Amino acid sequence: MRIVRTISEMQALSRRWRGAGDPIGFVPTMGYLHEGHLSLVRIARRRASAVVVSIFVNPTQFGPNEDFDSYPRDFERDEALCRREGVRAVFYPDAEEMYPPDYSTWVTEEQLSGPLCGRSRPGHFRGVCTVVTKLFLAVCPDVAVFGQKDAQQALVIQRMVRDLNFPLQVVIGPIVREADGLAMSSRNKHLEAAERRAATAVFKGLQAALEAFRSGERRTDSLVQLVRAPIKASGGRIDYVELVSRERLEPMSPEVTAPALLAAAVFYGKTRLIDNVFLG
Ligand code: PAF
Repeated sequence: MRIVRTISEMQALSRRWRGAGDPIGFVPTMGYLHEGHLSLVRIARRRASAVVVSIFVNPTQFGPNEDFDSYPRDFERDEALCRREGVRAVFYPDAEEMYPPDYSTWVTEEQLSGPLCGRSRPGHFRGVCTVVTKLFLAVCPDVAVFGQKDAQQALVIQRMVRDLNFPLQVVIGPIVREADGLAMSSRNKHLEAAERRAATAVFKGLQAALEAFRSGERRTDSLVQLVRAPIKASGGRIDYVELVSRERLEPMSPEVTAPALLAAAVFYGKTRLIDNVFLG
């Protein structure tokens, strides 16, 4: 397995593999890998003979008061996990390589980036779109795999790939959960024991809404309330719980009339967690 630190080396490697007829699968990450990331690597491996994982904690997608500095990092552990999963290269650039001092070019998606996390984290998706564009241009993948936990990110990237004609396929892997339902996330590491226990309320709420939906409940307010109630009871601070259309992320009210996304962002202590389910 190769550890690649520069964009030019990554591009050369990718050209070589491509020339040898090896399709390239790509899993972009910010490291501190968990089973959710590894499930994406396995999806990539089923679709491509050469899999590249990038590990880069992208400063431009964090706001000034967010957790960039404390975002968990453990490259040696990540490297061992990638090796075990049969990854061919880990692209591990530093911030200077990705953003030279006079860096001034940005990629923005202007529709799907607005609601949900876009509202609470201004500039977040500009940072995501920019770094993902740069990663795509470094790795030149045939297939790129993202996780459904970041449902809005997945939609924004799919739109960007379509709008900018990136010659690659985007695949979305399902959410991987702990035994008690908590969606896997690198940020779970920051939860203290009591917060970790309380955080299961997010999935409990989403699950309750999903079950109610399956039993015929269609009123937006009632479905949202089923998510909010256990979260509030658990002491979580709700950033948002919203029911939006699945493709365009438009608010759906007063009733669910088409496939919908029920998404939540909640703070436990200083840790912000996101999760979601599809309705319909
Ligand atoms: O989902 C993530 O880990 C990040 O947003 C991504 C896609 C690697 C871009 O930094």
